[in-house]
Amino acid sequence: MKKIVIIDGGPRKTMNIAKLVEAFIKGVGSISDDIEIKHVRLYDYDYKGCYSCLACKVKGSKYHDVCAIKDGITDVLKETAYADGLCIASPIYFSDISAQTKAFIERLCYPWLDYNNVCMAPPKQLATATIYAMNDSLPERIHELLERVEFIIRFAFGNQIPERVAALNTMQVKNYDRYDFGMFPKEMKEAWHEEHWKNDLQKAFDAGKHMAEKIC
Ligand SMILES: Cc1cc2nc3c(=O)[nH]c(=O)nc-3n(C[C@H](O)[C@H](O)[C@H](O)COP(=O)(O)O)c2cc1C
Repeated sequence: MKKIVIIDGGPRKTMNIAKLVEAFIKGVGSISDDIEIKHVRLYDYDYKGCYSCLACKVKGSKYHDVCAIKDGITDVLKETAYADGLCIASPIYFSDISAQTKAFIERLCYPWLDYNNVCMAPPKQLATATIYAMNDSLPERIHELLERVEFIIRFAFGNQIPERVAALNTMQVKNYDRYDFGMFPKEMKEAWHEEHWKNDLQKAFDAGKHMAEKIC
């Protein structure tokens, strides 16, 4: 059975990232019921980023595929490395992916980095997709930011460009009247949501569908 791992680095289980991931899963399901989907909510796991123990760089190391450190994500790292598809979903925090997502990527990808040949050697080539949610809505700034945060995933998988879904200017809260959010007038947020959100969900659905088609 084929497997897609969704690495979900968002803390909120009913907000934007959660809904986009739900749409992605539906997209996968629209192509096949025979693909196992592992939805990993990183905030439910106990782990840290790379410890720089360098066990994966020791001559003759057996940790080139999966990080040597044993903690809450050891099994997930193994499953991800040998899956068929990988979707990384994260809110944008301070112009980056969330700390949990970053920590996971360090642990996943650093063992694959080959300092002899200046390349990344994952045990398997996976189909990749990325999902983001953010307040920002300036296309040039966002493009630059996401190119930067996706660099390592592209490098890891032979310069394959992930299918990217970026939901901009998201509803950060359900009730804007309750919060001190002067920078984000409720009317502006609601108008944007009305115009774009359905399309964002559709793009997430399509990304799931395309990944399923690719791996089937
Ligand atoms: C700690 C923190 C930092 C944030 N930094 C940014 C940022 O740098 N740029 C941006 O566009 N949005 C930023 N946001 C807004 C979130 O990316 C946005 O609300 C997103 O929809 C969150 O995903 P969620 O709705 O699934 O929780 C930040 C939110 C938080 C809580």
